[in-house]
Order: sequence, then C-alpha cells, then structure tokens
Amino acid sequence: MTKLITTIDEMKNITKALHDQHRSIGFIPTMGALHDGHLKMMSLSAKENDVTIISIFVNPLQFGPHEDLDSYPRDIKSDTLKADSVGVDYIFHPTEKEMYPELPTIEVKAGRLASVLEGAERPGHFDGVVTVVNKLFNIVRPSTAYFGKKDAQQLAIVKKMVEDFNHSVEIKGVDIVREADGLAKSSRNIYLTDDERLEAVHLYKSLCLAQSLYVQGERNSAKIIAATHAYLEQYTSGTIETVAIYSYPELIEQHVIDGSIFISLAVKFSKARLIDNIIIEA
Ligand code: PAF
Repeated sequence: MTKLITTIDEMKNITKALHDQHRSIGFIPTMGALHDGHLKMMSLSAKENDVTIISIFVNPLQFGPHEDLDSYPRDIKSDTLKADSVGVDYIFHPTEKEMYPELPTIEVKAGRLASVLEGAERPGHFDGVVTVVNKLFNIVRPSTAYFGKKDAQQLAIVKKMVEDFNHSVEIKGVDIVREADGLAKSSRNIYLTDDERLEAVHLYKSLCLAQSLYVQGERNSAKIIAATHAYLEQYTSGTIETVAIYSYPELIEQHVIDGSIFISLAVKFSKARLIDNIIIEA
C-alpha cells in the first residue's frame, strides 16, 4: 500500500533509513492530477528501483499572478489510488506552510536557459521550479529522478541544475504519452471545451508536419516555422503563442538547423494553454 507522508522530517527519516540499507530510490516530482504520462514514469521507476517515491505539491513559486494556482486540479484520494496501482511506495504531500514556512524565500535562479520559450512567456516560472526541485532532491535524496519530455525545457533546466549544484541524482527524460489521436496527456487538458479538444489534436499534427519537412531535408527554420504556423492557424481557433526551433538541450535559437533540435509549440485556448514539442536528434 502506498503511504502518504506530509512532513519533511518524516520523509527525511524514511529516506535516511533507505540510504542506510543501500536501497535505490526512484523519484517523480509532480503537482498531482496524475495522468498516464505520470503513471508511465512511476511504473518505470518501480521497475528500475528498490523504492519509488513521488511528490504531490502544487508549488506556488512557479505560478504567475494571473495563472491557475487556485484552480489547479487537486484530488489526493484519486491520485493515491492511481499511484498505488503502479507500485509507488510513498507519496510526499506537504502543505505549502510545511514547504515554505515563510514567503518570500531564497530562490534559485534558473538563468539563461529560462530566458527563452516558456521562461520568456512565464517570467519566474523556472526559478520556482528549480527552487522546489532543489528542496525536494534534498529531502528525498533520490538515486534517479524522472521528468517528462513534454516539459522539455524544464527537463533541460533540471539537468543543468543537477550538474551545476552537484546533486547526486541521475535525471531520466521519459517520452511523451499521447491520447489515441495524438494529443499529449496533460493535467490541463481538462480545461478544454469539447470543440477545443477536437482542435487540440492539430498541435501534434503540426509537429508531425514540421518533422516531415525536416526529414525531407529542410534546414531553414523560418520555412518550417511558417508552415507549422499556417497549419495551426487553419485548424485551430486558439492563439498561437509559440512556434520555435531551438537546439536541444542547449536551447539556442536555430536559424539554420544544425544538430539536435526541439520544435516547441504553445497555443492558448479559452481556458487551457497547451504546450507540445518534438525533439529531433541530429
Ligand atoms: O512538472 C511539474 O509537475 C512541476 O514543474 C514539478 C517538476 C513537479 C515542480 O513543481
């Protein structure tokens, strides 16, 4: 049975005992509203490690003033059942007061990698992410931590943070899990209206179009971006906020594609802001 832990002290005592027994710890940090993308990372961790710990904490530091902090879906009972079904041993589920006894707190700065794409759209977001992930890594001290490739920029930033801050954890990126029609699974998909849900599949289709242009030999980013943008304009009513091509994981804008890249999209529907991407290895 999955055990729910709400205090930092208790979580640290458990992870200390696991370390003393030389047992490997797989860790998946989440904000809850678990979907198949999360469950895939948890199953993988349960296969690869002696013990799997997840965190469920809606981190206020990574939400902007007009974002969905208050309405972010929270359902710990249903999340616990889901986590239990894939072999999670512990859920660390602290309150905001437990994690941040007083705000403002000292924050870690994500730096250059956070100055583009989602970081540029959501100022301060990645500082909040790396601050909480630092705390969580110190509390859980995992052997391996799993992050979804859907948030590819977050994955690149966390890897760099681990390198720069000398954390003793291996970071594994896990492939995007998609609905049957291609829509990337996300806790925020529930905000889509029925019509928007039908249109949302075109985010993935536009990425497939971009990838096919690349495969046919196109290396001029502007041409790939223009075709992807035109496709999205034709098939969705959302506001297209981002269609961009960056090197991955360095996150440098590519005018002429050279090496591994990441084609990134953000489309804003009435209540849901969806992101999706495709990483193309050189
Ligand atoms: O990807 C998320 O759900 C969050 O950004 C994370 C990593 C749990 C930090 O709050």
